[in-house]
Amino acid sequence: MLTLGILGSGSGSNMQAILDAITTGALDAKIAIVLSDHPDALILKRAANHGIPYAVMDCEGHKSKFPDSAQARTAEILKSAGVDLVCLAGFMRLVKAPLLDAFPLRILNIHPSLLPAFPGVAAWEQAVAAKAKETGVTVHVVDSGMDTGPLILQEKLEILPDETADALHKRLQVIEHRIYPMAITRYANSLKP
Ligand code: GRF
Repeated sequence: MLTLGILGSGSGSNMQAILDAITTGALDAKIAIVLSDHPDALILKRAANHGIPYAVMDCEGHKSKFPDSAQARTAEILKSAGVDLVCLAGFMRLVKAPLLDAFPLRILNIHPSLLPAFPGVAAWEQAVAAKAKETGVTVHVVDSGMDTGPLILQEKLEILPDETADALHKRLQVIEHRIYPMAITRYANSLKP
């Protein structure tokens, strides 16, 4: 069984989807720990409600940087929790060497676009502003870039005429919640000897 650690900054609906897939048996895993850089993030409340251990990362007052020391502490916490795969779920800081080296090719991310198109924040707004005809969702392995790294799974979504960014984001999230657990299973199977 896979032992997951989840990092998120916001509402944690993807964490919830992963948990739901575990509950139904669709994903053979357990969530050992949930970590957030925001003490008030809903993702932590969701973890607490489900009796999942959680902790707040101390990013030393930095608004968007993920200092090396905080990454090293995060790696230690994940290791002590026995985590073998780390899932970023709406985590808004760039992961670099201290954490990447502790979990080589063992950190996944979900992003609401068909990468490499529209990396970075609010990808659904970027897609609408660019008048794109389609976008989608990508699950990928994390490297030191911004939403780069080997692709695991993508699903396309046609953008409707006059669709607002908010409406598009809602439809993208439905896809996210369905494909993240699938992508975790697919990736974990690919790692088996
Ligand atoms: C999702 O749209 C995800 O793709 C992006 O951030 C959002 C997080 O949502 N990286 P949630 O916290 O999982 O609800």
